[in-house]
Order: sequence, then C-alpha cells, then structure tokens
Amino acid sequence: MWPKTAITERLSLEYPIIQAPMAAFSLAELVSEVSGAGGLGSLASATMSIAQLSDQAKAIRARTGRPFALNFFLHEAPKLDEARVARWQGRLSAYHRQLDSAGAAHDPATPQFAVPPPFDQAMLEQVLLIKPAAVSFHFGVPSSAVVSALKRAGIYVLASATHVKEALLLEQGGVDAVIAQGSEAGGHRGTFAVTPEQAALGLFALLPQIVDAVKLPVIATGGIADGRGIAAALQLGASGAQLGTAFLTAAETAIAPVYRRTLLEPRAANTRLTKLFTGRPARAIVTRYLDELREWEDETLEYPLQRVLTQQLSRAAPDDPEFQIMLAGQNASQLRELPARELFELLVRQTEHTLARCAAS
Ligand SMILES: Cc1cc2nc3c(=O)[nH]c(=O)nc-3n(C[C@H](O)[C@H](O)[C@H](O)COP(=O)(O)O)c2cc1C
Repeated sequence: MWPKTAITERLSLEYPIIQAPMAAFSLAELVSEVSGAGGLGSLASATMSIAQLSDQAKAIRARTGRPFALNFFLHEAPKLDEARVARWQGRLSAYHRQLDSAGAAHDPATPQFAVPPPFDQAMLEQVLLIKPAAVSFHFGVPSSAVVSALKRAGIYVLASATHVKEALLLEQGGVDAVIAQGSEAGGHRGTFAVTPEQAALGLFALLPQIVDAVKLPVIATGGIADGRGIAAALQLGASGAQLGTAFLTAAETAIAPVYRRTLLEPRAANTRLTKLFTGRPARAIVTRYLDELREWEDETLEYPLQRVLTQQLSRAAPDDPEFQIMLAGQNASQLRELPARELFELLVRQTEHTLARCAAS
C-alpha cells in the first residue's frame, strides 16, 4: 500500500513521514520514538551548543539504531541596534511593571544578547563526527563546501523552500531534496530569496509548482496534521511529508505545560505570521503580546535578538499564555496528546485508509 519514494529508499525508512525539527522542543526522546517507529525524527539542533548536540545524538543512538536527521539555521550573524533595544525596553516596561506588581518572580536585569552563532565550521565538524543519516537546513542555501563535505560523508542534505525560485536555488546549490514549506506551517518561514508576501503560498499551490520545477525529491510541509494530509501530499507528487505541529503535543515533546495546554484549546486555531517574537516571520498562536504590539512588526531587532526580549517576558510570566512564544501551524484542530509512537502509528493507519479509499474510487 505504501509507495516506495526517493526518501524511503535512500534513508531506509518504513514510511515517508518526517517529524519536523522544532527548535528547543524536538529532543532525543521524541526523535528516537519517531525514528524507531519507521519515520525520520529530526533533532532540533540549531540552538544547541556542540556539547549539547553530541549528548543528544548519543541519547538518540542509545534508544534506536534507526536513521535520524539534524537541522540547522543559515541566517546571518545579527547586528545589535542599541537604539532599537532602548525603544523596545520602553515599550515592554509597562508589561514588566505590571508583572512586578503582580508579584512575578522576575529578572529585571538588562537583557544579555548572547545568541548561538549561525552554523559554522566547528558545528560542521561535529556533524561529520555524529554522521546522522540526514541534515536539513532552514533560511538559505548551504555553501558548496558544506554540501560537498556532508555528501562525501554519505549524509543526505535537505533544505527548505517557500517559493519555486528558492527551490531552484537549492537545486543549483547541490542539495539532495527540497522541503516545500507552505505558509500554513508553524514556526519560522524558511524564506531566503523572495519577500514574505511572495512566499505567502499555501502548500496545495506551492507543492506541485516545486515538484514540476526541480528534478529533486520534494518533501511537503505545512498544515499537515493527519493521514489525509500525508496522502494528499503524496498524491501531489511529494516524496514525503514533514509534520511539526502535529507532534507538538506528543508526550515526549519538550514543551512547557502552558504551551501544551493552549495548543489543545480552541484558540490554537487562531495563528498568524509575526516577527514580534524573534525578528523573522514565524507562525504562532495569537496572544495579547502579539495583538498589542502589532504596530511594531517592522521595528524588531534582527533575528534572533528579538527573542531575548520576548523570552524575558515569557520567563517573568511562565504560566500566562499571553506572554509565551507559542509557535503553531494552521492545523492544530487534529492535535492529540499521545505517546509519539501511538501518534505515529495513528498517522500511518489514517494514511493507509485514505490511500485505499482513493484507490477504490
Ligand atoms: C514549534 C515549532 C518549531 C519549529 N522549529 C523549526 C526548526 O528548528 N527548524 C526548522 O527547520 N523548522 C522548524 N519549524 C518548522 C517545521 O520544520 C515545519 O516547516 C512546520 O512545522 C510544518 O508545518 P506544521 O507545523 O503545520 O506541520 C518549527 C515548527 C514549529 C511548529
């Protein structure tokens, strides 16, 4: 019933289902369950230090011998704009005062803008030591030196595109597969060569365009939350489906209780793209913070420095959803709080059911 695809064959997967990397949330526990169930788990490696990455890779291998992926961001190192920082501190001071008077355990210190460096040579060397089955990149085309080094080591290279133009650039850059990210997707847009407006394509429009434009295998991602979506992606020519939000409420996902709770509420259907959390467009559940600061969307600090400011607020009010960064895609309606393996098996059954129904009709 399950079609063999370029990625099931190349990566020895039982199913062409990828658990999306989700920075800070998809750690060894989740990744090993998905990989162990026959899919491809992706470790959220982009915000880890080299030591953390090494420990997490060991933890995955202690749990499963199956293939898994690492994931990195290709953004420019940000420049700190002190004048903007001062203006943001002014805007956020009323919230901090409010939280102080509410007795929140709150760190009023000046924000520390030390953020992890973008993917560099030291990290590449660590990846070559770990030798995962696959590495995926977000926010750009990996350099030819990086692509060659990974491919020489037998590592499959994937990267995100939000527009046909980006898919073609990735193909020219030598990657093995393109991840077509529809604008329904939770988390950051991978956009790197078009404007956010040009990248505002839903997956049903974007996927066939990219499938037709490139010779590489294409992975579909964005808004896929059950087996019907996986089957539809395969029918539209994808070699696999990558699901993020669907795994956010899995038991093994490392998210805060307030985030988990909110994802299971009806308000999780209300998401929008915003730069207010990190400085780059990301889809998140709408909160009071997003509503009240909307007019400052184009005033954010460069990615990921804005996050330092928003994290200070989140930490000051850890149980208040209105001040949390809750990334989520447009299709939270199917979310279930299940162990990841059960969730994965459910996705497999649902997909089989849909494919069988299509074959019979
Ligand atoms: C909470 C969250 C964190 C994410 N973090 C990353 C990340 O670290 N790297 C990455 O390439 N994509 C990241 N994404 C985007 C996913 O790769 C994928 O494009 C998205 O989850 C697909 O849409 P869906 O959430 O509707 O399934 C994240 C998505 C979510 C929901």
